Amino acid sequence: MIEEAAKLIAHSHFLIAFTGAGISAESGIPTFRDKGGLWEKYKVEEVATPEAFRSNPRLVWEFYKMRMKIMKEAKPNRAHLALAELERMGLLKAVITQNIDNLHREAGNKNLIELHGNIYRVKCINCDYSEDLLESGRLEEFLEEDLPKCPKCDSLLRPDVVWFGEPLPQDALQKAFKLAERADVCLVIGTSGRVFPAAYIPYIVRDNGGYVIEINPKESGITPIADIFLKGRAGDVMEHLLAKVKRCLKDKGC
Ligand code: APR
Ligand code: ZN
Repeated sequence: MIEEAAKLIAHSHFLIAFTGAGISAESGIPTFRDKGGLWEKYKVEEVATPEAFRSNPRLVWEFYKMRMKIMKEAKPNRAHLALAELERMGLLKAVITQNIDNLHREAGNKNLIELHGNIYRVKCINCDYSEDLLESGRLEEFLEEDLPKCPKCDSLLRPDVVWFGEPLPQDALQKAFKLAERADVCLVIGTSGRVFPAAYIPYIVRDNGGYVIEINPKESGITPIADIFLKGRAGDVMEHLLAKVKRCLKDKGC
């Protein structure tokens, strides 16, 4: 199976990757729908909807600051690094992620689409103010603030992430759909495939004649349409897969 996947990747013309929380699990970031995942401990409607923010912004900020603290300590793992290397090798054309943890960027991927936003970006609920806390160098100070306010208009700042019931950033989504239409191979790593429209990506690839290779320790919503299912953890499987792709390219015999 893994040989077949390596061969498809090595011979691909337009490889893309579609990732979810599972790719960052080995970096120590909790997933959502697994046992012990975030949606077991928190209620979506209390921490991740526009209504939740309107009725209790403090609780929502507590949730996101807790996640910021975990994410800022996390490092890209072998799966993120393998994707960055596949891009450097010229094989991987884009990563489309549902994750907000910034780890694909930290690993070195340049062509990255973040469908659900980024944990380090904040924006005003009232005016056009937005800030990248990594660029402004204000992350530590921000984590100490009680309720963060807009420096321009004094309204509340909110995380620049997509909450349930909100539309995805349209330019990012359109770009992602176009990439999926072009892709002849799509690596789907660590997602339950339950959250739409993001989860349409592998369906679009398949409907346009591309192959879907999935990596996950468990079957997901995507598994029924996967051409190859590589059962296992993202870091382990990606390391082996990358080694096999390299061997395949070197031997030219695969
Ligand atoms: N390697 C690969 N996959 C893993 C690993 C691992 N080490 N550990 C867990 N997984 C898999 C799980 O089996 C599961 O299929 O990762 C998937 C995680 O699923 P979810 O928690 O549902 O995460 P995701 O699919 O990214 O969720 C989509 O839901 O709450 C929203 O906005 C949030 O972007 C998120 C969206
Ligand atoms: Zn403002």
